[in-house]
Amino acid sequence: MSGIPSPRESFGSKFGIIAATAGSAVGLGNIWRYPYITGENGGAAFILIYLLIVIAIGIPVMLSELAIGRRAQQNVYGSFRKLAPNRPWYLIGLMGVVAAFMILAFYTVVAGWTLEYLYQSFIGGFHGKSPEELVGMYNGFIGSSTRPLIWFFVFMGLTAFIVAAGVKNGIEKSTKILMPLLFVILIVLIVRSVTLPGAAKGISFLFKPDFSKITATTFLMALGQAFFSLSIGMGTLITYGSYIQKRDNLATTALSVIFTDTLVAVLAGIAIFPAVFAFNIAPESGPGLAFITLPNIFEQMTGGTIFSIMFFTLLGVAALTSTISVLEVIVAFFVEELKMKRSAATWLATLSVSALGVLCVLSTSSLANFKLFDKTVFELMDFTTANVLLPIGGLFIVIFVAWFFGRDKAKEELSNNGQLKARYIPLFLFVIKFIAPLAIAFVFLQGIGLIKL
Ligand code: PFF
Repeated sequence: MSGIPSPRESFGSKFGIIAATAGSAVGLGNIWRYPYITGENGGAAFILIYLLIVIAIGIPVMLSELAIGRRAQQNVYGSFRKLAPNRPWYLIGLMGVVAAFMILAFYTVVAGWTLEYLYQSFIGGFHGKSPEELVGMYNGFIGSSTRPLIWFFVFMGLTAFIVAAGVKNGIEKSTKILMPLLFVILIVLIVRSVTLPGAAKGISFLFKPDFSKITATTFLMALGQAFFSLSIGMGTLITYGSYIQKRDNLATTALSVIFTDTLVAVLAGIAIFPAVFAFNIAPESGPGLAFITLPNIFEQMTGGTIFSIMFFTLLGVAALTSTISVLEVIVAFFVEELKMKRSAATWLATLSVSALGVLCVLSTSSLANFKLFDKTVFELMDFTTANVLLPIGGLFIVIFVAWFFGRDKAKEELSNNGQLKARYIPLFLFVIKFIAPLAIAFVFLQGIGLIKL
């Protein structure tokens, strides 16, 4: 609590910026959620719509967040305070911090499951189990309290350990190792999957669009998935943007991150669906795809143990580079607004998130019948963040940049004070003024049921 603020940290290299930011985006959303949402929503047709939305809405929102953060050099709350003094915009920042608490609480629960499944892979826990027994194993595990709780705390601890070490020595250093590791594992899994006999059906499911499957819901699912997957709408990228130096290029950063995130989602589909079809399993198996269907496949395949270990390592690594970005939103807020030391801020944030997290862990066991608005605490956190807080946050973020921050400052920030040509700026401004806000508002109103198609 010293009165002299220490100099603000920043990412040290271009690769570090991309590794950390893409690390935030690439997560359970890509490898666990995206394949089953694609499976349930018609495969290739869904992917096309998702790509369209990522380009039209994902890029402008991400760029707006990075510009706000780098301009202000503050945490998400402080950024709005600084750029719009004495105006209520800081409420959007506060909402971001609240969303971070809620996301971290439920997301780390699933992240913890990946550790249990990694452990089971090592000890041969899926060995000789029938599909029904694997379902029983999954339900038995999430229906007990102790093991999911232990893994939750292990994962929170890992996340806190990295964040406490700082932006450069913790976040940047770890993601520079973890992200390449993630790609290597993913590629090995793809080679295994596409060389299985009967894999071709999975590939055509992913790449031959069936437009008869497209409905209004397809668009909604794609939009929600895009917000969650790209980590946009709650200021994670405002926080990370504040660690990007003035000489770095925000547009190329946003494009690389979006490209990487989308690539990993599609690659995860290529790693999973050929195997799913090769073993004659229904592609629309829902959230259990990763924890029931895949162990079933690993069980039947030669060398399954090693691929199972690789898959759950991949899932855990992807989740970890995301949880650190969410924890950093809260830690940066505590450090700058409550003038705390980073280590104290990290442990305070971890403890307080854990209090909510415990309720999320127990939502599949002892608190399964404790419901608010007909949802368990876990489901409530998931639903409220993805379908309410992120879209509202995203909406106000683009409105802020387009209508309040203004053309001149946006231009200055995106062109590095005129040093970069940045010819896309007029198009960007047009999109964030009209297209993005309208599209997001539409989805949000659909999501909460105020309008119905
Ligand atoms: N983008 C992450 C994923 O796809 O798993 C999840 C996430 C991280 C959402 C950070 C929001 C966020 F701020």
